[in-house]
Amino acid sequence: MDRMNMQENPVLGLATGSTPEGIYQGFIQEYNKGKVSFKNVTTFNLDEYTGLKKDDPNSYCYFMNEKLLRHIDIAMERVHIPSGTAVDLKSECLKYERAIERAGGIDIQVLGIGENGHIGFNEPGASFSSRTHVVDLADSTIQANSRFFKSVDEVPKQAISMGIQTIMDSKEILLLISGEAKADAVAKLLEEEVSEDLPASILKKHANITVIIDEAAFKGT
Ligand code: GLP
Repeated sequence: MDRMNMQENPVLGLATGSTPEGIYQGFIQEYNKGKVSFKNVTTFNLDEYTGLKKDDPNSYCYFMNEKLLRHIDIAMERVHIPSGTAVDLKSECLKYERAIERAGGIDIQVLGIGENGHIGFNEPGASFSSRTHVVDLADSTIQANSRFFKSVDEVPKQAISMGIQTIMDSKEILLLISGEAKADAVAKLLEEEVSEDLPASILKKHANITVIIDEAAFKGT
């Protein structure tokens, strides 16, 4: 937070999922105490499901509004979340990359990790040189995320995600890993070589990354 305030127009990369919720609660608390303003903050979210409208409770747009955006003084024109309902998804991806470039790149990217080691929605096998793209979700991701949907059949099969290179271009990364379900991914991260089979492994090559792991995620290592 202090580092963000040192810059006039910080660009923040945001993530969804249960793990970063505490950070967003912290932002809201600091804002309510009058300690911080988000007026000059620009945000870019990592990803969005395809086919879900912005007001669908399972869309990441809805999540961000509920968990953070509607509680703070951020200017909505500075908020960027890929549109999963764009008619032309490929051109939406290009537009998203250009918007990140125009903003001067991402200063700090908040990141979680999937049970299979995905980052954003870059599933195992995704190219390390990928930029914002349309991805097919892995069956394991569909299963893991079905807890938020009425049934597994309702989980979208695709998403738009920042690419791995887009994420790696962030000036700083904050990787948060929480819960027993991530223990396998953590063990692999520690033991295995950098490989496209484990998307998060590329983060070992980032020059400015902070990793926060809770005890449960260390189980079994
Ligand atoms: C989704 C998101 C990821 C996130 C992951 C883990 O798949 N696309 O960006 O890291 O969920 O979420 P959670 O923190 O709820 O475990």
